[in-house]
Amino acid sequence: MASGPYLHGHHASVLRSHSWRTVENSCPHLIPHLSKSSLKILDVGCGPGTISVDLATRIPQGSILAIDPSAEVIHKARKHAEEKGVTNVRFEVGDIFNWEIIEGVEEGGFDIVHAHQVLQHLQDPLSAMKEMKKLTRRGGIVAVRDCDYSAMSHYPPHQGMDKWLDLYRSVAKSIKCDPDIGKRLHAIAIQAGFSRGDIDASVSAWTFSTPDERAWWCGLWAERSTKSDYTARVLESGLGTEQDLHQIARTWREMEGKEDGWFAVINGEVIAHNKS
Ligand SMILES: C[S@@+](CC[C@H](N)C(=O)[O-])C[C@H]1O[C@@H](n2cnc3c(N)ncnc32)[C@H](O)[C@@H]1O
Repeated sequence: MASGPYLHGHHASVLRSHSWRTVENSCPHLIPHLSKSSLKILDVGCGPGTISVDLATRIPQGSILAIDPSAEVIHKARKHAEEKGVTNVRFEVGDIFNWEIIEGVEEGGFDIVHAHQVLQHLQDPLSAMKEMKKLTRRGGIVAVRDCDYSAMSHYPPHQGMDKWLDLYRSVAKSIKCDPDIGKRLHAIAIQAGFSRGDIDASVSAWTFSTPDERAWWCGLWAERSTKSDYTARVLESGLGTEQDLHQIARTWREMEGKEDGWFAVINGEVIAHNKS
């Protein structure tokens, strides 16, 4: 199974968002499962690796292998680990659909197989979940978290924001990805062979409202709309024009300037216990 293109690419405006992520703000569902300090974790689609490095610091006697198909982002992740002085994490270029060629990856080899905001970018998330299950030892867990774009919310109302959301969701669907996958992670886990009783499904949100939070969130979307791989994908798809994207960037800047602005990103989470 080949991977499709990653919709956002790794432009600075995209990495700014990924590099903000920590275990606390992005994996609250995983924290109760990190009490043993000698865990072996696989982080699938690790991006710039800030979550992987944070996970590594929480399991000093354990180890993390973090993989991503982008060599560019793996280079950044290695640098981040070096700067933090964290040595129990290893970053490798790798694809969940082709894990056999990655050194140290084997069936049942991990206590936790984790993926954050990855399944929404895959054309076949079910096969990915099946591979993740295969790599988890009996008694271990698969942990996934993805947002649901259809459940994103903002205040005050702005027609331009509705246009942004419609366009984003249409473009993601045009490359056969599901931008709303956060609401059905548990269903994918059932299809992948987990019993419903072995799946914990929860939700947590990111909120952006203070001036600093708005500047960061709206600024990165304004930039991402006109300067990242996403820009190219919109134009290629024929679903939006350069003019539309510049209008959307202006909308984000307007929202940033609204003192009462508020944004909520709803994330679906699943912990699936591997009993087989
Ligand atoms: C939204 S980013 C999430 C990065 C990181 N997990 C985080 O939350 O900061 C999605 C990542 O999945 C990676 N990815 C895409 N297809 C993949 C695949 N088949 N196997 C593993 N990772 C993949 C992309 O390269 C990208 O870095």
